[in-house]
Amino acid sequence: MKSVAVLTSGGDAPGMNAAIRAVVRTGIDKGFEMYGVRHGYAGLLDASFIPLGARDVGGILGQGGTMLGSARAPEFKTLEGQQKALSNLNQHSIEGLVVIGGNGSQAGAHALYKLGFPVVGVASTIDNDLYGSEVTIGVDTALNIALESIDRLRVTAASHKRAFLVEVMGRDCGYLALMAGLAGGAEMVVIPEVESTPQDVIATLNAAHQRGKNHGLIVVAEGAKNDVAVLMEYFKGKTNLGFDVRATILGHVQRGGVPSAFDRVLATRLGGAATASLARGEYGMLMGLIHNEIKATPLETVVASKKPLSTEMIELMKVLAK
Ligand code: ADP
Ligand code: F6P
Repeated sequence: MKSVAVLTSGGDAPGMNAAIRAVVRTGIDKGFEMYGVRHGYAGLLDASFIPLGARDVGGILGQGGTMLGSARAPEFKTLEGQQKALSNLNQHSIEGLVVIGGNGSQAGAHALYKLGFPVVGVASTIDNDLYGSEVTIGVDTALNIALESIDRLRVTAASHKRAFLVEVMGRDCGYLALMAGLAGGAEMVVIPEVESTPQDVIATLNAAHQRGKNHGLIVVAEGAKNDVAVLMEYFKGKTNLGFDVRATILGHVQRGGVPSAFDRVLATRLGGAATASLARGEYGMLMGLIHNEIKATPLETVVASKKPLSTEMIELMKVLAK
């Protein structure tokens, strides 16, 4: 293998740049000629390749986002799209690919691998919903941004004797909400993994009020059936909430942060492991963090498996608000 390309795909995550830098520099160290693909799988479809030298990835380690750009490319989900991508890779004599991204992106990586192309994945999404890595690149930074917002909302909530519903990202996964709830001292988390009703939220707020609390915080996952919009609609005109309730949807602010030290180190380790795997001739794997070590999991297993949320932390969350 002489030439290797790297792409970032799906939602951007803080630390993707650190991963690109590590892939490029460790790839060069292994003797590969390195290329970047612009805008994820869309760049494979329109052959948007750029040569990347060690200097080209200088100064990006501490920057959020991705210097290569990211995208959602529906055409790549089709066999025709994947064959077009393969043909573009072959025409440019690129013989290996590193895919930095989350669930969907790794499904794409697996699809290319099944068509015979050497691909290695790097686990990166703020949602932390990817099997094969206990923590993915970007989660730590996104969680800390959510937490900072929650801490700020608590201050104003307490001043006005209010309750806040705070919606965090995570797509279909409640990980960010659960962690933000635990770290932010929330009364309750509303997550897809645990059945709860709007009446449960009202009961929780009332109980907090009756215990003498002067404010309340409920962290809601965007993927929950009863998300913030549904809850606020349900609360309209109700006078039995215990508190005056306000809502904040954090949205994309969670994605745009400067990557934390943890995310930079994780991204650097996973990027280095990806090129090492290509150099060993081991493909079709996802590089992830398992028991604090970098481990490879077959992409086939990754795409077929669902990462469970920790029941221990779900149970802790239920009893901590007193
Ligand atoms: P993430 O990787 O963050 O989960 P998406 O789910 O949006 O993000 O996926 C990113 C891209 O990966 C999609 O736009 C598409 O190009 C590709 N992709 C997603 N699912 C598949 C699939 N089942 N097969 C092939 N490619 C896929
Ligand atoms: O996968 C990352 C993520 O930020 C999810 O948490 C969220 O549901 C989605 O991407 C938002 O996508 P977009 O940036 O396309 O609005």
